[in-house]
Amino acid sequence: MVFVCYNNPDMAIIHNFAVFEGGDGSGTTTQLELLSGRFAEPGLPPFHAAFEPTGGPVGVLVRKVLKGEIALRPETAARLFAADRNEHLYGPGGIVERCGRGELVASDRYTPSSLVYQGITCGDQLPASLNSSFPLPELLIFFDLDSETALKRIASRPGKDIYEYRDFQIKVRSRYKALLPRYEEAGVRVECLDASLPPEKIAEQVWRAVRKMPIVEEALRNRSFVRQ
Ligand code: TYD
Repeated sequence: MVFVCYNNPDMAIIHNFAVFEGGDGSGTTTQLELLSGRFAEPGLPPFHAAFEPTGGPVGVLVRKVLKGEIALRPETAARLFAADRNEHLYGPGGIVERCGRGELVASDRYTPSSLVYQGITCGDQLPASLNSSFPLPELLIFFDLDSETALKRIASRPGKDIYEYRDFQIKVRSRYKALLPRYEEAGVRVECLDASLPPEKIAEQVWRAVRKMPIVEEALRNRSFVRQ
């Protein structure tokens, strides 16, 4: 596999930025909701839950492609995912702006999704080059789930996305496993969680990973100082 993208050791890391990744049905969306609830506690930094594809104009188009409502060449879809991400990062109220002003942003999917999913549909080179200039997250949480359990969960949901079938999801899982060490080598903290556990147990592990982010550690230190 070629991952041109993260071979650059000077790649910038966005501090205060965490991403949730995993195959379809791995529970990233549920865990992001549970984490949002946790940040309602006083004394924690402002929290913003984000997701890709976004709710912006390009993201809306991408969701139509995912539902099979619009048929596009895989290379066109790969470019749309990257265009949506560019807006998500640099647009008004985007990731860079929020993290820069001291918010913690956690996104349900980011560049790893493109490298994994579009790597399968278009080959490695195009998604690697389309994503090569995007900065890295500080923390990447991977929700690891065996494909059989994932497929059962997908089957119980209404509607089906174009990538939600067995052979594709098996490839997704093995590609994530090959890709994650590259993020680690580039300086991203990668936490791999067992997504087959009960949601509350996983939520505890997510919180343990997130609370190690300096922005949270500092807020917790200040909070205990104020209480003393
Ligand atoms: P999503 O609504 O996040 O579903 P789930 O809750 O199952 O994760 O679905 C997004 C889909 O889009 C998912 O199949 C992964 C895919 N995707 C890509 O293929 N490339 C990308 O860059 C992104 C962000 C998502």
